[in-house]
Amino acid sequence: MSRFCVAGSLNIDLVTRTKRFPKQGETVQGESFSTFTGGKGANQAVALSKLGAETVMTGKLGNDIYAAQYMEYFRKLGISTEGITREETSTGIAVITVDENGENSIIIIPGANGRVDAAYIKEKKELIAKADFLLLQLEIPMEAVLEAARTAKAAGTEIIFDPAPAGNVPSELLKLVDIITPNETEAEALTGIRPDDEAGFAAAGKALTSKGVRTAVMKAGSRGAYIYEKGRLAHVAGFKVNTVDTTAAGDTFNAGLAYALGEGMELAGAVRFANAAAAISTTKHGAQDGMPSIDEVQNLLGF
Ligand code: RIB
Repeated sequence: MSRFCVAGSLNIDLVTRTKRFPKQGETVQGESFSTFTGGKGANQAVALSKLGAETVMTGKLGNDIYAAQYMEYFRKLGISTEGITREETSTGIAVITVDENGENSIIIIPGANGRVDAAYIKEKKELIAKADFLLLQLEIPMEAVLEAARTAKAAGTEIIFDPAPAGNVPSELLKLVDIITPNETEAEALTGIRPDDEAGFAAAGKALTSKGVRTAVMKAGSRGAYIYEKGRLAHVAGFKVNTVDTTAAGDTFNAGLAYALGEGMELAGAVRFANAAAAISTTKHGAQDGMPSIDEVQNLLGF
């Protein structure tokens, strides 16, 4: 059985649902308010664990009530917390608005996530070295992401990197990454090319691989995903479901991709598995509540 390590953020998501997003300067009345566990790193760890994967997470929580709840929740899910430390600050917070189409906008307050540095990753390096796959995102400081990637490379651990939220990424990191999984916005931030159609995905994939990434798996929402590898583009179709909240669909995709590769699936099959997992995750509210079990994914895949 493959082992997975996630190095990244743990957030508490404060979620408002509203018919539509307010325009700048406008006040609208919302429909509901809820608090969920979230954070791109923790979401990927939870999605892996719900699929049945052996998962360890490294990151930081604050000194508030949320941190204790998060630790307890991880233990219940069977996610190893040996890589998680609490800091004298607040747990990371994400203020999220979800509209009636399930689309979201997010403001992040890093809190303890901002204290994950290279030295901390060095302390936890065994967790990365022992894993078969390392999953990375961009909600902890870049020095920590880079150190984690260097550690994984040295240990022969496969790196799946979700360049989210969109931003600048140093060229050293791209050279270390095995599989990068941007959505359209993130691909544009990294390459300057907006992939709106097949030609755009091919150009963005070519640009990403020319920066040193081995494989680009570009997420395209309900259209599925595009793979660019060895100079060739392939499309893997998405699944039609009743979407109510797209929050963490991308995180579930990454976890599904890693899980399926860890089970020995070839890349296109693993991307199809990831598309199915991500689609199911959008059918419930909250980042983690809709994340599927292996049976749910296999059911959608028709196994
Ligand atoms: O990817 C979704 C996540 O982004 C949310 O759970 C929120 O915490 C933000 O980090």
